[in-house]
Amino acid sequence: MKIKVAKSAGFCWGVKRAVNMAVDSVKKAGGRALCLGELIHNKREIERLKNLGMVFIEDMNDLRKGDTVVIRSHGVSPKVLEFLKRKGVEIVDATCPFVKDVHEKAIKLEEEGYPVLILGNARHPEVIGIAGHVKNPMIIGSLEEIKKLPLMKKLGVVCQTTLNLSFFKEAVSILSLKVKDLKVYNTICSATSVRQKETLKLAKEVDVMFVIGGKNSSNTTKLYQIAKEVNPRTYHIESKDEIEPDWLENSETVGITAGASTPQWVIEEVVNHLLHLKKGGVLSGRGVCQTT
Ligand code: F3S
Repeated sequence: MKIKVAKSAGFCWGVKRAVNMAVDSVKKAGGRALCLGELIHNKREIERLKNLGMVFIEDMNDLRKGDTVVIRSHGVSPKVLEFLKRKGVEIVDATCPFVKDVHEKAIKLEEEGYPVLILGNARHPEVIGIAGHVKNPMIIGSLEEIKKLPLMKKLGVVCQTTLNLSFFKEAVSILSLKVKDLKVYNTICSATSVRQKETLKLAKEVDVMFVIGGKNSSNTTKLYQIAKEVNPRTYHIESKDEIEPDWLENSETVGITAGASTPQWVIEEVVNHLLHLKKGGVLSGRGVCQTT
């Protein structure tokens, strides 16, 4: 059995940076080191960070003066930032610079007089943060809703950095028929589009495909949907323990990819487990692992 791990599998640059900043803040904090919400959508990595001393809270009112607060890579709205400053906490801003770029583009569109449409999931923290930078944003996450929009004179578009590229293209092509003056910024992060393209290619090549990452991670779920569409034997798993040996029956090639919030050590666990299931395997790092 051959195991192929996508080159882009796992932490993206922005998540790696945020995790490093969080670990650093735990070491340096005079008082408590906290994060607003889960730093990344991966339960096992969150557990690891908790063991290092990081505290995760949902309610900002629980903050005390002297706390160190890490803003995760998804970013926050200016209102949240103001609140933190008023609370007198030490702020460690781990917002991904690419997400900050979306904030700036949304602000620019509004300044130029364009009503702002954000393509993405309205409940996702990144989208909530982007929306907080403009006055009356529209947030749309489905083609059905876009089809229902009326004809408009002007519209400016940005999108969630982890949006599905084909959804984005379709959405823009529908909007171009409805809006006279349409200004679009494709703010999909290149780490996302590279990962999605690689996932599609790999899923087509292999017999069985594993997508590793949190079930609550939207970018991992999108990878799963992309792979599942071209390979029905695709499984979304959070850890090696979910793998049923019969999933591998009659398979000569196995593909592995992982979401931007999946740590390297979780990917390695899965690869080692698969090599163990098909005895005699050799792990040769990223790329192709061949079992005998
Ligand atoms: Fe940043 Fe792109 Fe990752 S926006 S957090 S580098 S997916």
